[in-house]
Amino acid sequence: MARKRILSGMRPTGKLHLGNLHGALSNWIALQNHGDYECYYFVADWHALTSDYATTDEIRANTLDMVIDWLAAGLEPEKSTLFIQSAIKEHAELFLLLSMITPLAWLERNPTYKEVKEELAQKDLSTFGFLGYPVLQAADIIMYKAYGVPVGIDQLPHVELTREITRRFNFLYGELFPIPEPLLTEVPKLLGIDGRKMSKSYDNSIFMSDRGETLERKVASMFTDPQRQRRSDPGRPELCNVRTFHQLYSSADAVAEIESACRGADIGCTECKRRLAAAVAEGMRPVHERREHYSNHPEEILAIIADGNRRAAGIAKATLAEVREALKISHEL
Ligand code: TRP
Ligand code: SF4
Repeated sequence: MARKRILSGMRPTGKLHLGNLHGALSNWIALQNHGDYECYYFVADWHALTSDYATTDEIRANTLDMVIDWLAAGLEPEKSTLFIQSAIKEHAELFLLLSMITPLAWLERNPTYKEVKEELAQKDLSTFGFLGYPVLQAADIIMYKAYGVPVGIDQLPHVELTREITRRFNFLYGELFPIPEPLLTEVPKLLGIDGRKMSKSYDNSIFMSDRGETLERKVASMFTDPQRQRRSDPGRPELCNVRTFHQLYSSADAVAEIESACRGADIGCTECKRRLAAAVAEGMRPVHERREHYSNHPEEILAIIADGNRRAAGIAKATLAEVREALKISHEL
């Protein structure tokens, strides 16, 4: 039986943090290693332009750096196809064709559109490209006739729009595309070091690439149970972000011990964080080693991307041939 195809992408916004690793990336890796799926993961660099069209200096470097983070995390080019959106021009053609059949009202009522526009009020996002963001995303997804799209909850409206656009395409031109399923990614509630949602824009992230002193300093500055002011105050580990991190990086026994020592004020937060920093450093060691390897071998990254692009292009070309045929638009001889 043919393996089901999975597709997902990320915009190249820069270094990935531990929230990205334990959310989206660990799910991508699990799907890759599952065996029943054929996984396609790509860098959505055209999507980055929808909001960052005026500041493109870093997009190229961020693209490569993100692929390094993916490889460091454990995506394997023998198992997953890793590629770059802008290298596959068929995405642009399918985007154009889908834009012909997508009602404006569907895009205007998209909740993400309104939210991001308000959030990024300092940027002028009254552009055609930004409104069309979900149409490009629909093209990304159906290009590979994906069965499943692993995404976080924030992306659900976009996948829902993809499903609507796909139904409309199939209705107008024949049943060419499967309707993709969103595969919701469970995200552990990892907060940033200041207790807010971990986000690059809050400057509160622990990055996948943080190690040594940087890692220790960040862990040492993490917010803890706000009611635990003095060393002698009993703590409430269930309300503490440090405990959440321990659950990911320390053994079950160590977590149980820390919890009871915290409740009994037998351990101080400084010591608790010192242990956490050591556990994170140890747990992340293979990730850091792989990052170091690829940083020293940029030619390997370029070869991996070239190979992924070639594999993706093979499918994209075949899909576009079918699409042109379905629309009776081409005169290729
Ligand atoms: N919009 C997604 C995000 O911001 C990135 C993305 C672009 C994507 N195209 C996609 C995700 C296709 C899944 C499938 O995270
Ligand atoms: Fe949090 Fe650890 Fe301090 Fe308890 S001892 S409040 S778990 S940092």
